[in-house]
Amino acid sequence: MIVPQADPKANYLAHREEIDAAVMRVLNAGAYILGEETRLFEQEFASYIGQRYAVGVASGTDALFLALRACDIGASHEVITVAHTAVATIAAICMAGATPVCVDIDPQSRTLDPNLLEAALTPHTRAIVPVHLYGQPAAMQSICEFAEQHGLWVIEDCAQAHGAVYQGRKIGAWGQIAAFSFYPTKNLGALGDGGAILCSDSNLYERLKALRQYGWDEGRISQSAGVNSRLDELQAAVLRVKLRHLDDDNAQRRNLAARYMELLAPVGIALPKQDADSIPVFHLYVIQHALRDLLRAFLARRSIGTAIHYPLPAHLQPGYRDRIRVAGSLANTEYAAQSVLSLPLYPELHPESVEQVAAAIREWLADQSA
Ligand SMILES: Cc1ncc(COP(=O)(O)O)c(C=O)c1O
Repeated sequence: MIVPQADPKANYLAHREEIDAAVMRVLNAGAYILGEETRLFEQEFASYIGQRYAVGVASGTDALFLALRACDIGASHEVITVAHTAVATIAAICMAGATPVCVDIDPQSRTLDPNLLEAALTPHTRAIVPVHLYGQPAAMQSICEFAEQHGLWVIEDCAQAHGAVYQGRKIGAWGQIAAFSFYPTKNLGALGDGGAILCSDSNLYERLKALRQYGWDEGRISQSAGVNSRLDELQAAVLRVKLRHLDDDNAQRRNLAARYMELLAPVGIALPKQDADSIPVFHLYVIQHALRDLLRAFLARRSIGTAIHYPLPAHLQPGYRDRIRVAGSLANTEYAAQSVLSLPLYPELHPESVEQVAAAIREWLADQSA
């Protein structure tokens, strides 16, 4: 592809000297698991988001799973979330032994519709997992109010929203606990897998630290059953470099998104909606069209890469459909899966490439109406 949809190598090259130096520092330090780099990254990331503590783990999926475990959520419990998400959200709830209960998304924000929470509630409900999909904050004010009224945990899935802001507060600082992924294409991406769990409660923090390492206490005795899920020193060192550039990288994503908006708004294709309450970080720039597959094929012929996030909602996927309870109609979710298309977007994308992509879309749309 001449214009790829994502390009994690470009982000490495943009910060190459600093990243290479950080990697060499770790190699020479000789401590490769849970050392100084991880400790410092945890401090720096927690303070960036505005939570007191961060615990580095092996992936975003593990971050969600361990967050649920730390809140004692497991078999016989229900967790309300959405089916229009990376299936990892659902996988983590199932790993904890709980039942995902999926409600529909709001068609504008493409995130959990808080008006549907009441109907999904049962005596077994323990938590809500809002997903800040595509870097767009979910409606946290309403979600947190509902959770408080009903004594539920809010575990934020922030895998796609590092640095996004809702009503002046960062995503990840709204719920009691938040899960982040550092998958290489994420806004804050490692050079491999990684994740983190953020919280401000010291008991939760102690539980999370134990859970990620066999349930060990200080004396390396397992006081509870845990797992092995640790962020390694190399990834932590790389993430410390990239965290310093995150605000600039996000600003660049917003500039490019604004340019797409400017070029595509006049031609009547569904674009991401900007909510006055939030500052999104455009992990993805996702447009919608009923003939999405035709548009995608046309763009591929022009060497323009696109992706579909996500082609089949979780409640229809063979591996998970029998484990999920669906609450009400998921019509918006199902339509999103049929119509979404992620255009090229990453901080290093050239503004001329945005113009090239927009011109190709305009040409295709003109052909459709001819
Ligand atoms: C919304 C969402 N939740 C969870 C995850 C899981 O993260 P990871 O791939 O690091 O396990 C991802 C990333 O793939 C994601 O996009």
